[in-house]
Amino acid sequence: MPFVPGRIQTTPLPQPQLENTVSLEQALLQRRSIRSYRPVPVPLAALAQLLWAAQGVSSREGFRTAPSAGALYPLEVLLAVSRCDELAPGLYHYRPLSHDLLLWRSQDHRPAIAAAALDQECVYEAAAILVITAVPERTAVKYGSRAMRYVHLEAGHAAQNACLQAAALGLGTVTVGAFDDTALAEALALPEAVEPVYLLPVGMPV
Ligand SMILES: Cc1cc2nc3c(=O)[nH]c(=O)nc-3n(C[C@H](O)[C@H](O)[C@H](O)COP(=O)(O)O)c2cc1C
Repeated sequence: MPFVPGRIQTTPLPQPQLENTVSLEQALLQRRSIRSYRPVPVPLAALAQLLWAAQGVSSREGFRTAPSAGALYPLEVLLAVSRCDELAPGLYHYRPLSHDLLLWRSQDHRPAIAAAALDQECVYEAAAILVITAVPERTAVKYGSRAMRYVHLEAGHAAQNACLQAAALGLGTVTVGAFDDTALAEALALPEAVEPVYLLPVGMPV
């Protein structure tokens, strides 16, 4: 595991809901990039559902909601929390196997993330930000020079899952790829082997 904090503090997440009255077709129809959010908290259950949709475990063997080349799972999802009544502001690492959050860094990281994301307003406004990062070496061990291609494809799968889940929950989100790689890696205190790939600010739509 690349994220090993000095002090281990975990938060169990509400179990994912496996049924919804919104059909897949309705979620596909409703998914839209939403960039304005109300300054209100997002429930922990909704954030947990988004994390599960992005990278949760969905089989006894440990396979996940999103496909992965060779089932090598190079993606690591972080959650930057700003406004959630059940969770202190901070930067958390989602652990799919235990479906919980490991505190990576305390304090609200949203302003630093937004600054790295070229000051995009939607990132400043978010109640929370899903940060998709990757450890490309996991995939490179088997696939060599095709690893980065696979990592980016997989990030797209995970992000789309989260977008559709957000649509089904009535949450707003947008996929953000415009950021300064070095500034974002610094803002997230990423270990050397980990690269930032994609941001999904989340909030209650205006
Ligand atoms: C790879 C990628 C990067 C994107 N980066 C940004 C971004 O940095 N900021 C932003 O506001 N939207 C970003 N978007 C969202 C697109 O602008 C949006 O998907 C497009 O306008 C179509 O609108 P829709 O998502 O509502 O269908 C990105 C989309 C993709 C696929």
